[in-house]
Amino acid sequence: MSAAPRIDVLGLFPEWIRQFTEIGVVGRAMRRRLLHCEAWQLRDFADDVHRTVDDRTYGGGPGMVMLIEPLRRALTAIRAADPRPAHTIYLSPQGRVLDQAKVRELASRPRLVLLCGRYEGVDERLLDAEVDEEISIGDYVLSGGEPAACVLIDAVGRLVEGALNDPASAAQDSFEDGLLDCPHFTRPEQHELGTVPAVLTSGDHKAIARWRRQQSLGRTWQRRPDLLEKIALSRADQALLDQFRLDLQQTEPDAD
Ligand code: ADE
Repeated sequence: MSAAPRIDVLGLFPEWIRQFTEIGVVGRAMRRRLLHCEAWQLRDFADDVHRTVDDRTYGGGPGMVMLIEPLRRALTAIRAADPRPAHTIYLSPQGRVLDQAKVRELASRPRLVLLCGRYEGVDERLLDAEVDEEISIGDYVLSGGEPAACVLIDAVGRLVEGALNDPASAAQDSFEDGLLDCPHFTRPEQHELGTVPAVLTSGDHKAIARWRRQQSLGRTWQRRPDLLEKIALSRADQALLDQFRLDLQQTEPDAD
């Protein structure tokens, strides 16, 4: 068996990452040695007694910028810790927004290095020289990259082989085929909040698969029409969606 995929995280708050990677699916994958995560303290690579890792921004203005040299020394040490090529990512709101296709691509790499910023950012020259890509987890600003790194580790970690108890559940996730997931129900069948759709208790597996597909299509159309524009629907899918819209018109005539 080849060595487990490895994710190294560099920043000022390695405790964030250490605690996060002990919990849930990622924690289990770590304990089973299916995934290896390591958190590094950037201050350990400073060269003064104050452990300075930032300085004022050229051109003036508020905020501090992370220095080139401590980052460079840290990245050299991190890369030397494992011989496999490391794909280096800087987490920032300026990056390309993370989606499931990117998560799948990252999950296929043997080694990732995640760089977490604080302050106003990182000296641009370091990014140009050492970083392969910049990733954002959404159009909002966090106080630092660590929570974004945790999001990325979770999304990638659950795709590592053996991380999920039931691998089929990853295949049916939202976004895996460009659509949102269908609704799910469990016992009791009858409840004051409603009754489980009859098709799901019919035992007719073909009808159930058709209903689920139709719900996925319908929900995506209702909630994330932007996703539908990115995929080409088969004739069968288009027919399911048309029927969903027709049914909706009949139950909610005012709905668009
Ligand atoms: N750091 C600060 N905000 C961020 C965001 N939205 N995504 C990734 N890293 C960040």
